[in-house]
Amino acid sequence: MILKGRHILLTGGARGLGAVLARHLVDEGARLTIADLAAEEGRAVAAAVGAAFHPVDLGDTRSVALLAGSLDGALHGLVNNAAIATGIGGSGFEEVDDDTFERVLRVNVWGSWAMTKACAPALRATKGRIVNIASDTALWGAPNLISYVASKGAVMAMTRSLARELGPDGVGITAIAPGILTTESTEYVPEARHRLYSDGRAVPGPQPPEDVAATVAFLLTDGALTLTGQTLPTDRGFVFT
Ligand SMILES: NC(=O)c1ccc[n+]([C@@H]2O[C@H](COP(=O)([O-])OP(=O)(O)OC[C@H]3O[C@@H](n4cnc5c(N)ncnc54)[C@H](O)[C@@H]3O)[C@@H](O)[C@H]2O)c1
Repeated sequence: MILKGRHILLTGGARGLGAVLARHLVDEGARLTIADLAAEEGRAVAAAVGAAFHPVDLGDTRSVALLAGSLDGALHGLVNNAAIATGIGGSGFEEVDDDTFERVLRVNVWGSWAMTKACAPALRATKGRIVNIASDTALWGAPNLISYVASKGAVMAMTRSLARELGPDGVGITAIAPGILTTESTEYVPEARHRLYSDGRAVPGPQPPEDVAATVAFLLTDGALTLTGQTLPTDRGFVFT
């Protein structure tokens, strides 16, 4: 129970990796608030794991402010997990339209910054922790995924810069970079890309989302401060840094 007594805010907990993280963080003793655009699914996950739920649109300034203002009591951790993470791969960079590129950057980059900014006063008060969910696609340069790769590279860069701004107040911020996971969001990805990962991992085979949950939980603890600013590939040895 490494998160006992800690209030954690998790975005994107309505499905996929976020829903797995929700279960794990509660099992580790956290008091959890889930925030997601998908209100019905988010409420269902929250009810199942014993968390609170708040709707949010990470593309919308007012919505993020409302969420931050609604938080109940002290906040010890923020997990920036929500993202546009599905249905945006498979096209060459010349085929991607402006609206898609801008929307992906808006939610994945702006949304992570806006959440961090909105929660910073509360996290400074507790010397809290932030975990950004990036992706190893930005580390190895996955092709045909340009808006997503750009967004996750930006998340890693922000993590470094924010570590220096938040560090003086004892707030730690770390990114993880999973590889392709066996989530609903990657079912559309061609078999060849799944095979590239399965064959290329130090630990061959598929990677379930449960695999990264313990790392996220640890990064929300006091002991993780030493990892502030870092991006940790959590992909069973597909990329090494
Ligand atoms: N699944 C993978 O293989 C994989 C690999 C590496 C990194 N990641 C990262 O892990 C995180 C979760 O990925 P996933 O596969 O579970 O994705 P997913 O598409 O299944 O879930 C994303 C969640 O974010 C929410 N969301 C999307 N836009 C939103 C918005 N504007 N406001 C609020 N919530 C919004 C969705 O409703 C959904 O619940 C993402 O940051 C993703 O980039 C996933």
